[in-house]
Amino acid sequence: MDKILIRGNGALNGTIPISGAKNAALPLMIASLLTSEPLVLENLPRLADVEALKSILSNHGVDYQVKGKRAGDDGMSGRVVEFQATEIVDTLAPYDLVRKMRASFWVIGPLLARAGEAKVSLPGGCAIGTRPIDLFLDSLAALGTELDIDAGYVNARAPAGGLRGGHYTFPKVSVGATHVMLMAASLANGETVIENAAREPEVVDLATCLNKMGADISGAGTPTITIKGVTSLHGATHRVLPDRIETGTFAACVAMTGGDVFLKNAQASLLQEALDVLEKTGVEVESGNDGIHIRRTGGDLQPVDFSTDPFPGFPTDLQAQYMALLTRANGTSHVTETIFENRFMHVQELARLGADISIDGQTATVRGVKRLSGAPVMATDLRASMSLVIAGLVADGVTEVNRVYHLDRGFELLEEKLSAVGADIERVSD
Ligand code: EPZ
Repeated sequence: MDKILIRGNGALNGTIPISGAKNAALPLMIASLLTSEPLVLENLPRLADVEALKSILSNHGVDYQVKGKRAGDDGMSGRVVEFQATEIVDTLAPYDLVRKMRASFWVIGPLLARAGEAKVSLPGGCAIGTRPIDLFLDSLAALGTELDIDAGYVNARAPAGGLRGGHYTFPKVSVGATHVMLMAASLANGETVIENAAREPEVVDLATCLNKMGADISGAGTPTITIKGVTSLHGATHRVLPDRIETGTFAACVAMTGGDVFLKNAQASLLQEALDVLEKTGVEVESGNDGIHIRRTGGDLQPVDFSTDPFPGFPTDLQAQYMALLTRANGTSHVTETIFENRFMHVQELARLGADISIDGQTATVRGVKRLSGAPVMATDLRASMSLVIAGLVADGVTEVNRVYHLDRGFELLEEKLSAVGADIERVSD
């Protein structure tokens, strides 16, 4: 099994290109199930989750073809891939495939809308909480879907004549359930209104792409989304938006080590709250049209308190990375996690590196320390693994991050990108 070795090595300087967003790419790929025509996605990142979803989708009848190596001029990322589901050949999403990635459960929306039925295994995914599916079931029921759960599978059936437009207010914001409603309601009969919808940029990206495919969606990015159902969707070409979590992660790396790095293609509006928190630690953030400069040229990091929240709040997917940063602040910070009930799994691993963190319920108290020291560590999820890399960048000696497959799910060319700005990081195989 691969591991990553990092030796604390001083400031980072140079340019890091930001890839297409994993969490936008996944629902966009799933949207290809909604039409028999080709959906061309540009700037698709090369990630284990993208590869896994390709094989899940091919099980339902989606063919894919790489059309070009890159769409950008950064030389590192951005494949163009065409997805086409001429026919839905199977409406079963089996346990073996769905357990590996929670997002694959989302095929339930387009399968129901286009084929009228779906049998989808209950999902797996990162171990960060119980992650129930009640909101998916309730919102799909509002479109007339009949649902039951049996032997680990959700059986879903649209009414005769297809899904019906409906009204649904989410009792809690859910990114995934909002994606599924957008896809299902696009092909329903009549109008659907969803309230308390997720406002994440990835939801807006999916709605934009669906509209290019002929859907009639308005209000994406606000809490109320209106979807007027259409009878069919057609092909389209869409560029995946830049990854705000990758952006915030590399920003935290530079904040940790000091230096001056330009995050090319990054868009500040996608993570303003996280950038504001970074500025409060004393880091300079300068955003422009084609990217964001992150600079720290001296002085201690200042402690800061933050709480995760649905967009436009501080993203839960950056909580672990920013906590790693605050382990070296000059004072005590408080980090509150409000989205997932079990997303502090990185704390005990950060402690192995010398961090001083205690947890009380949903809040972690992070007392800044002067020094971290390298050790073997491993994490249980993608973003938590990255928090260990960030700590390793300033730790004395060697930090050995195990279970690298977590990182490969969501960070494209991680070692290459960090080495290019001066980090001492390498992947080794046992
Ligand atoms: C998406 O997960 C992201 N995944 C997650 O990123 C991200 O952490 C999360 O949104 C929140 O921003 C992808 O986009 C592929 P939710 P999702 O439904 O859609 C509860 C990463 O590291 N809930 O918005 O699964 C749920 O338990 C991943 O890239 C219910 O109670 O998240 C959580 O507490 C990890 N019932 C809250 O809602 C439901 O039916 C928000 O979850 C569904 C969700």
